[in-house]
Formats: sequence, structure tokens, C-alpha cells
Amino acid sequence: MGNGVKMRLIQTIQSTRREEGENVGYDLKVFSGNTNRPLAEDICNILDTRLAEATVTRFSGGETHVQIDENVRGCDVFIVQPICENEEEGISPNDALMELLILIDAARRASARRITAVVPYYGYARQDRKDRPRVPITAKLVANMIYTAGARRVLTLDLHANQIQGFFDIPVDHLYSINILGEYFRMKNLKNLVVMAPDVGGIKMARAYAELLGAPLAIVDKRRWSGQKTEVLNVIGEVKDKNIVIVDDIISTGSSLIEAASALKDKGARDICATIVHPVLADPAVERVENSILTELVVSNSIPVPKRAQNGKIKILSVAPILAESIRRINNDESVSNLFANAKVEG
Ligand code: R5P
Repeated sequence: MGNGVKMRLIQTIQSTRREEGENVGYDLKVFSGNTNRPLAEDICNILDTRLAEATVTRFSGGETHVQIDENVRGCDVFIVQPICENEEEGISPNDALMELLILIDAARRASARRITAVVPYYGYARQDRKDRPRVPITAKLVANMIYTAGARRVLTLDLHANQIQGFFDIPVDHLYSINILGEYFRMKNLKNLVVMAPDVGGIKMARAYAELLGAPLAIVDKRRWSGQKTEVLNVIGEVKDKNIVIVDDIISTGSSLIEAASALKDKGARDICATIVHPVLADPAVERVENSILTELVVSNSIPVPKRAQNGKIKILSVAPILAESIRRINNDESVSNLFANAKVEG
């Protein structure tokens, strides 16, 4: 059945359920800020809908200007905006956040029935606890701002820490890209494989990959000296003569990844590749990856990867299918969690 036919069928079922008094399937509208418009367009293509019209620009003084250009009264509105940099569009993570908040505010004031913030990369997630005196918990502040702006549901992907869901008092649908990134490695059918968590925080997700790929798990015991510098203290597990897939949620400067890869090589590992969900790719990550012993780095398009980083070892897989399917399910009041029934990512 084609996508168009499927959507029409869904709409008919929704109208029937609505006539029977159920609160499902209100007109769905997907908007995007400027951080990752191609991802929002891919989501809309899969949903067989068009990206709704909004003007998101800057006033000459640098302030963000938003105008929603179509009626959203009574609609189920989804706003797609990762909180990250878009180097090519000249957008900082803070610009991205302001665009998201102002879009939510505009939709709320235009009488949208419900607004869902679709945040494929939840920026500031690494500031999720008070680990030193007099530091903020910015991940919580961001959650407060999204709620205060008017979002009543959040759809996000591979949070740095699962507990961030608890920073919201509204429903959070937390998706995992293992369905796409893990599947890529499963299809490769790699032999003699070990899955590696590059720090203790990443064990749970690495274990889910290990189970999916039928491989044992190893762990890097890492110490972070600064935002840019990490050091590997130990490698826990057997890696000699093994092929390795390193699994992590974020690559920022690339220090954690490259230090882990070198430590594995020193311990006699063979082919080393990695999969990391969110390609923050702060300088000098791209150069580090390209000059490293890694054979491949597979990332998602939760964050736009600049063109300069697209012709080497970095491979990008789209998470649009899981975001689109989740949006469809939310709009239709269906379960989202059972999308991940086969991946042992929780618990
Ligand atoms: C840390 O807990 C994260 O999971 C990543 O390992 C870290 O953010 C990567 O940062 P960098 O690439 O700068 O080492």
C-alpha cells in the first residue's frame, strides 16, 4: 500500500474514532526551525505531508523573529528543532533554543491544540547535575523553558542521561537510534566482534548493541581532565585480535573516541569502527577522526553534519523514519515504546 493511500486510510479511521468521541488524530502540522530543516523535510516526506509554513529569521539586531504563516487553531503541532549548532547556516545552539521556544510560543498563541517539541538532539544534556559547587543544571533549565513556552509533550532521541526525562512534568517520548544504527552493523554481519563502551555512562546502550550483534562487551575506564582532554586509564575486557565497534551518544571534540581507539589498538585490537548518535563535531573532531586509526564512524542526522565532514570516514544514517513513525503514533494515540520492543535499551 502506498504512503498516500495509507495516510488517507489512517485519516478515515481517525475521523471515525473522533466521531465516536475519541481525542485522536487532530490535524497534524510539522514545523521546523533553521537547525535541521532537511531532517524535518524527510520526516514530512515519510508522513506524506508538507512542512508547514513559518518564517524564522533574525531582526537586524540579532534577535529571533518568528511568524507562523498558516492557521494552526486546533491542530496537533510538532516543532522539529535539535538544540545544536548549524555551522553552514550560522546558527549557534543558543539560537536554536530560542527559535524552538519562540516557535512554541507562537503556536500556543495561535491556539494550537497541543504542541510537541521534537528535539532530536537535546543540547545542554551533559549539564544534568551539580557535580561541583556553584554550577547550574542547565538541562533542567532548558526543560523548564520548553514547558513554559507552551510545549505539552517532548519527543527526543538518545538522551545523554535517561533521567533528563524526569526534568519534565509532561510526557516525554524517548526514542533510540539503535533501530537504525545497530541494524546497520547487524546487516554487516561482522565476525570476531566486541562492542566497546567508551565510558561507564555508556554501558547500558553498549550492552544493548552487544546483545543485538551477539558480541561480548568491553569497557574503557576514562578520566576527563577538561572539556577537550580525556585519558584512558584501563580497558576492561578481552580485545586482542578482535574487531571493535565503539558505541557512544555524543562525539564533541572527539577526544573520548580517539583516545579509546588508540588504547584498543595498543591492546592488540584489529579493525576499529564506531557508532555515535549525535555528531556535535566540535573542532578538531573531524580532523581527529580522519587522521585516526578508525575505519568508519557512523552517526545519525540528529545534528546536521557540515559538508566538509561528509567525504571521509563519517557515514550518516537518517533517523527520520523513527521520528516520523513516532509522530504518526503520537498523533494517532498509539504506543511509541513498542517501537523499541526488540532492543534491550531500558532496565
Ligand atoms: C560523555 O559522557 C559522552 O557520552 C561523550 O563520550 C562525550 O561527550 C564525548 O565528548 P568528546 O568527543 O569531547 O570527548
